[in-house]
Amino acid sequence: MTAHAAAAASATSSRLSVVDERTGARYDLPIEDGAVRATDLRHIRVGPDDRGLLCYDPGLFNTATCKSRITYVDGERGILRYRGYAIEELAERSTFLEVAYLVVKGELPDRERLAMWTRNVAVHTMVHENVKKFLEGFRYDANPMGMLVGTLGALATFYPDALQVLDVESRRLQTRRLLGKLPTLAAYAFRRSRGLPYVDPDDELSYVGNFLSMVFKRSGPRYRPDPVIERALDVLFILHADHEQNCSTNALRCVASSHADPYSAVAAAVAALGGPRHGGANEAVIRMLEEIGTAGRVREAIAQFKTGARRLMGFGHRVYKSYDPRVKIMKALTRQVFEVTGRNPLIDVAVELEKIALEDEYFVSRRLYPNLDFYSGILYQAMGFPPGLFPVLFAIPRTAGWLAQWAELVTDEEQKIARPRQIYLGEAARRYSPLELRPARGVPEDPVSPAI
Ligand code: CMC
Repeated sequence: MTAHAAAAASATSSRLSVVDERTGARYDLPIEDGAVRATDLRHIRVGPDDRGLLCYDPGLFNTATCKSRITYVDGERGILRYRGYAIEELAERSTFLEVAYLVVKGELPDRERLAMWTRNVAVHTMVHENVKKFLEGFRYDANPMGMLVGTLGALATFYPDALQVLDVESRRLQTRRLLGKLPTLAAYAFRRSRGLPYVDPDDELSYVGNFLSMVFKRSGPRYRPDPVIERALDVLFILHADHEQNCSTNALRCVASSHADPYSAVAAAVAALGGPRHGGANEAVIRMLEEIGTAGRVREAIAQFKTGARRLMGFGHRVYKSYDPRVKIMKALTRQVFEVTGRNPLIDVAVELEKIALEDEYFVSRRLYPNLDFYSGILYQAMGFPPGLFPVLFAIPRTAGWLAQWAELVTDEEQKIARPRQIYLGEAARRYSPLELRPARGVPEDPVSPAI
């Protein structure tokens, strides 16, 4: 029996004994897979009117909301595996579409299955002409991430069959459609923001090659991606394919738990991803590095981050308390990419920031390490992508993970509609006072609430 299996076996037979000091009552709560069920706490009451003990966990620091078989992260030891395979091996030996298959279906494809999967995704890269018209409705300077959220939401109206979330054939179809269309929507959002004509998908190119073509093609019959850049972006896509229960995946699972269609659920996930504390950090990192400007100004910047006034973007992670394995792979990629694109000078600022932060007591004691957004923007920028598109480059491959999580959720009989509880600390019942009888509160500029 492996150490992991032994720990699991002993965990299945354990119980947690607790004494409620309010009543003196003792409770035995079963521990299963290293967790107690939050609903078991409901039995812990002080009297018949008590609705039972709650777990208070803002930010879901220590709450498992699902049982999953997709991605394993050990943040203490810096381990990331998709379906049991080490990220290092997948990044070295696989392609993104192969990894997407693995993440979605649970096994690596054989040759025939990979060919079929590639074809099935490629036939869905075109988008309805109306999508281009929607894009025209956005302001000329609209953020590509906002356009992606909008067009994904709109796609739901094209495929009413997607509401059949309990039908496996429908799920398969929506999965291929979403994986096929994401690069097209992303590229078109970029072309729209630049006022450039849209480029049709080219099925002769790889998944990533076609995306590069739809973004960068100017004139001429065919765009030929540089093989080093194509492979580097493919590896970046592999690194971003899934990362278990984070903010955007939780948003996706929350929306999907109502059995909303997957386009709406993925749109919600993209919306969550865009925030600077999550996938929007890659864009924020570049802006921060540009602001710092030179390696010589790094110490001054670090001192500022330590005051708490602002954060060192691309640093820190809820789960990784040691070096993120994806960052090592990414740093190696920078050398290959720079050989083709030339050196992005921001790398010097980033390397110096990492060096000084990793020696500084503030970052060491909080176990803050660079996360995958710290170096990805430098690579994207060297490849020619503008910062506004960086979070979109995160969203394309993460769609594979979101779709796997969606399928897992809707087929999990234990899952229910997401409906958290709260601890109400507001006013008790109050008597309503009509407007004409309400006393004046002073000048209207004085806030009634400090929060809004
Ligand atoms: N710079 C300075 N201090 C930080 C940073 C940072 N980047 N991150 C965390 N801290 C401090 C924080 O102030 C707190 O200090 P104290 O204990 O004195 O109050 C302590 O470290 C713990 O921080 P936290 O906010 O409780 O940690 P969290 O798990 O809630 O937040 C995080 C995780 C990623 C949101 C946060 O580290 C952060 O804001 N990082 C910068 C944004 C970023 O790079 N986001 C990308 C995340 S990885 C890719 C992805 O999944 O999207």
